[in-house]
Amino acid sequence: METNVQTDTSEADVSTHVRIFDTTLRDGEQSPGASLNSAEKLEIARHLAAMGVDIIEAGFPAASPDDLAAVRRIAEEVGKADGPIICGLARAVKGDIDKCWEAVQYAAKPRIHVFLSTSDIHLKYQFNIDREEALLRIQQMVRYARSLCADVEYSPMDAGRSEPAFVAQACAIAIEEGATTLNIPDTVGYMTPAEYGALIAYLIENTPGGKNPGIIWSTHCHDDLGMATANTLAGLQAGARQAEVTINGIGERAGNTSLEEVVMAINTRQPYYNLTTRIDTKQLTRVSRLVANYTGIVVQPNKAIVGANAFSHEAGIHQDGQLKHHSTYEIMRPESVGLSESRLVLGKHSGRHAFKVRLRDLGYQLSDKELDEAFKRFKDVADKKKHITDADLQALLADQLQGPTELFKLRGMQVTCGQIGMPTATIKLEGPDGKEYIEAGIGTGPVDATYSAIDKIVKMPNRLLEFAVHAITEGIDAIGEVTVRICTKDGEYQTFGGHGADPDIVVASAKAYLAALNRMLVATGAPGVTPEGERATIKMAGAD
Ligand code: KIV
Ligand code: ZN
Repeated sequence: METNVQTDTSEADVSTHVRIFDTTLRDGEQSPGASLNSAEKLEIARHLAAMGVDIIEAGFPAASPDDLAAVRRIAEEVGKADGPIICGLARAVKGDIDKCWEAVQYAAKPRIHVFLSTSDIHLKYQFNIDREEALLRIQQMVRYARSLCADVEYSPMDAGRSEPAFVAQACAIAIEEGATTLNIPDTVGYMTPAEYGALIAYLIENTPGGKNPGIIWSTHCHDDLGMATANTLAGLQAGARQAEVTINGIGERAGNTSLEEVVMAINTRQPYYNLTTRIDTKQLTRVSRLVANYTGIVVQPNKAIVGANAFSHEAGIHQDGQLKHHSTYEIMRPESVGLSESRLVLGKHSGRHAFKVRLRDLGYQLSDKELDEAFKRFKDVADKKKHITDADLQALLADQLQGPTELFKLRGMQVTCGQIGMPTATIKLEGPDGKEYIEAGIGTGPVDATYSAIDKIVKMPNRLLEFAVHAITEGIDAIGEVTVRICTKDGEYQTFGGHGADPDIVVASAKAYLAALNRMLVATGAPGVTPEGERATIKMAGAD
């Protein structure tokens, strides 16, 4: 096949600026159980933009009409002239590229990201095509994407297990057809840092056109062997100037490279890497919590940068050193990731104005109706809890934004438990038809009893995979945050997460379970539920 590649080998982008390409809403959302509704996606996108992310991969528009609508909304509302590039993913097929363009064109700076594998394993077993056919498709589809959009990225999927010379050939064709970003995925997390760095260096050196002005090489690593961050940093050292990452490292299987780890490694080891990003690191903790709340994927306590223990010192000798000087055992200040920013801000006497200003400072843009609802929730909690922190507010907002998929709403509950008698829960739910349903359940404990009462009303068979409760802030009156993960029992084992926050952890548990059930009902199109989840005629206990 003719390639007619330009051979301009003038300087590659050797500036120190690393573009942060966040794919939380695309690759991150592919984590089992992480499905987000469009309101949550928009909110996350707003926070990513405010934090200084350069490119947001907002979704995979061809995956479903909902995905397309969510990407379009982000393009319209977040993709402003002074905002980030808004990118959508597309397979190297015309239909995908059309849908992608349909969604991203509303951004001031749209990007289409086309991918096609280059490994023989994928070409043979997944696509059943040979290398020549793959190159032809790359040529035609990058050309087509470029005819629609000025900014095109190409990814040779499974590059980590491909022959490097063939990856270079594929990238050369993509460059010739107008792609300006070449993203090199270690799709299955197989590579070591030395290998990945060498691959990036090889490609920059040996891809015809790979050093042309304006060509950016990009890293995309998965964490199957726990090396995603190390691989990404090795790629950047070898000359890549875009890093594809997700908040909290969420993503397929063991996840993607985590944004906060790469950014803080670059910041903390500045003289070593001699690289920079535009990320306002003080927002990292807040955005991490936001994503954990919305996805229901809890951050492990020992997670670097954003884990609950990342800045705690337990051993006596460490504490002693810390008290003498923080530099003894601390390589980053907690303030640098926004950890101590969570001031005690509001209480029950705080007015609507102060509340609104605080939410605005936290990066939320709510409509008047949403603000009214949030203020009501805040007042309910402030009656029970003296000081409401930023983290508390985030948890309350996370609950509220689950709204669009809220088919069943919790309208009241009463639980009795203790050592005498059986734990019993009475639950009142408002159904999708607007009617109220009341059921009682017994169980081994208050949460079990609550879930059994909910099951009697919602009647959606499922298996509880994970139940986690933790206090957002310290103190006996702390808001309890519960995340649950459930899966369907239909043999497909689709997983759904839910989040609930309340000073009463049994109420928080009920909210979290309902949120997960609502998502399951919408996604599986349970009897009578429309894909948008607007209405339903689901069979309910007591329904006639
Ligand atoms: O891991 C991967 O290969 C991907 C591509 C679609 C870029 O996510
Ligand atoms: Zn990936």
